[in-house]
Amino acid sequence: MRDKIAIVTGGARGIGRACAVALAKEGAHACITDIIPMEETVNEIKSIGRQALGIKTDVSNKEEVLNMVAQVIEKFGKIDILVNNAGTCQRVPLEELTEEQWDRDVNTIMKGTFFCTQAVYPHMKTKGYGKIINITSISGQIGGAVSKKKADVESKRGRSGPAYAAAKGGVIAFTKWVAKDAGCYGIYVNAVAPGGIDTEMTKGFAYPIEDLPISRMGKPEDIAQMVVFLASDASNYITGQTINVDGGWVMA
Ligand SMILES: NC(=O)c1ccc[n+]([C@@H]2O[C@H](COP(=O)([O-])OP(=O)(O)OC[C@H]3O[C@@H](n4cnc5c(N)ncnc54)[C@H](O)[C@@H]3O)[C@@H](O)[C@H]2O)c1
Repeated sequence: MRDKIAIVTGGARGIGRACAVALAKEGAHACITDIIPMEETVNEIKSIGRQALGIKTDVSNKEEVLNMVAQVIEKFGKIDILVNNAGTCQRVPLEELTEEQWDRDVNTIMKGTFFCTQAVYPHMKTKGYGKIINITSISGQIGGAVSKKKADVESKRGRSGPAYAAAKGGVIAFTKWVAKDAGCYGIYVNAVAPGGIDTEMTKGFAYPIEDLPISRMGKPEDIAQMVVFLASDASNYITGQTINVDGGWVMA
């Protein structure tokens, strides 16, 4: 991946940061976008000897996304890799979920993935090459963890809300649609579905890891390694797929 240009959304911390750093270790230069400060990721990439750009961008704002992509093109002249990672997770039950909370997850996850993909697409088409990787979730396939009948603390462990599950499911369908469109242009589009990963998003929530074949929380680096594979030429006969990286939680 030497001198490939990657954009990683939500790259200030957690899975996004691990993806950006892992891509840089493989030789890529990276543009990190987020709504929170990104200096730590930018500095870590520079310390590896790769170029890094931090651009404050709300992925749910079309103008900001277009502006960010224009800056990347101005600096690097191309975009090879897009990792749509930015996300929020409301853990609010159906009957309490407000329209604003619904919009927050759906706009960040689904609309953000749409805006960023749409913005990089013409640049990838021009070059005849691109790797788009969408970070979805096993929640988008199985609707989150199962809650128990008794409304106790146990029932809420690790359970993401309905807006999150719907948005992540939407990303899986969007991945397939774009993959079918993009294959003829040399653009590959895949998704990664993490299980329970140890980040700010899961802090304070207990996941049923004792039931998993690989009985531990995942690390951001576990996801980053799959992203590296899908961003590399080692995956050049794979498109439209959602690959679970979840310790064996979901088995198709
Ligand atoms: N941690 C898990 O167990 C888990 C499981 C499945 C999927 N995921 C997905 O992985 C991705 C990364 O999550 P994480 O676990 O690293 O959590 P995180 O909260 O540490 O990281 C999410 C990042 O996205 C950024 N972000 C939020 N809204 C944004 C917006 N509108 N525009 C730009 N950036 C925005 C946040 O500031 C943050 O830096 C998310 O899409 C999440 O849904 C996480």
